[in-house]
Amino acid sequence: MIIIGCSHGNHLASSIANRLKKPYSKLEVTHFPDSEIKLKFNKNIKNKTVVLVQSFYQNINDNIIETLFAAETAKDLGAKKVILVAPYFPYLRQDKRFNKGECISLRTIAKNIDEDLDKIIIIDPHLHREKTLKHIFKISSKKLTANPLVEKYIKNNIKNPVIIGPDWESYKWAQKVAEGIGCDFAIMEKKRFSARKVKVTLNKKININSKNLVFIDDMISTGHTLLEAIKGMKKLGAKKVTCFAVHGILVENALQKLKKAGATVITTNTIPNKAAKINVAELISNSLRK
Ligand code: R5P
Repeated sequence: MIIIGCSHGNHLASSIANRLKKPYSKLEVTHFPDSEIKLKFNKNIKNKTVVLVQSFYQNINDNIIETLFAAETAKDLGAKKVILVAPYFPYLRQDKRFNKGECISLRTIAKNIDEDLDKIIIIDPHLHREKTLKHIFKISSKKLTANPLVEKYIKNNIKNPVIIGPDWESYKWAQKVAEGIGCDFAIMEKKRFSARKVKVTLNKKININSKNLVFIDDMISTGHTLLEAIKGMKKLGAKKVTCFAVHGILVENALQKLKKAGATVITTNTIPNKAAKINVAELISNSLRK
């Protein structure tokens, strides 16, 4: 086995290789002036299981092309098997035609992944209408969850938490972590009007007096979901507000906006960012040991 750090996976790839005591190599990726990508493997990968570590953030579409190029090249160079470790995998929310004429983007992405890879491992994929990764990919797939890591972080750092999921889909993170800790939780209701406009309301009575309010969601993108949720909950008199997310996408100054709203933000490092305090390297390494 050899661990290859793709352009957006190097923050985890070398540490995964160290933990597994396997060789590591950085994929060489360059751009031509017109933005075409060129890539190169710098180690012999013939007859090896090649693990491509690639998270998808900033230039998501470039990252996808790079990953497909890398997978196909690995096969061409004689790799025995090509596995994609995607700490964060994109497009999972675009799994249906919401409006007439729209592209079901996830379908196209999955078709290409199926074609070039043998296995895919994703941390906390945003599974919504599709129940499992098996419904999305034909190749072998594995879903990992950072919930136990989030749970441990809260147990070690936050006293008297009460956990809130900002929308019904977040129960897979908020409820699961709350059950693990054994604390109260509530799930809010979200109505989305556009990518940047949501309304979040709490329709359940919950006592947050002298408790530390902990929001948990799978991802923070623009931060609007959590900003709205915080606005609603602040009136109830919480002591301290902490927002947890597995994936800190954090676009459009989301981190600064949430800090300004009085919240501390903690994420895992599936996507590197200033709030990434929880390391998923061991979680990934364990899944490759099996
Ligand atoms: C959506 O269902 C997700 O779980 C997140 O709640 C959402 O994507 C967060 O996006 P934003 O931070 O832009 O509100």
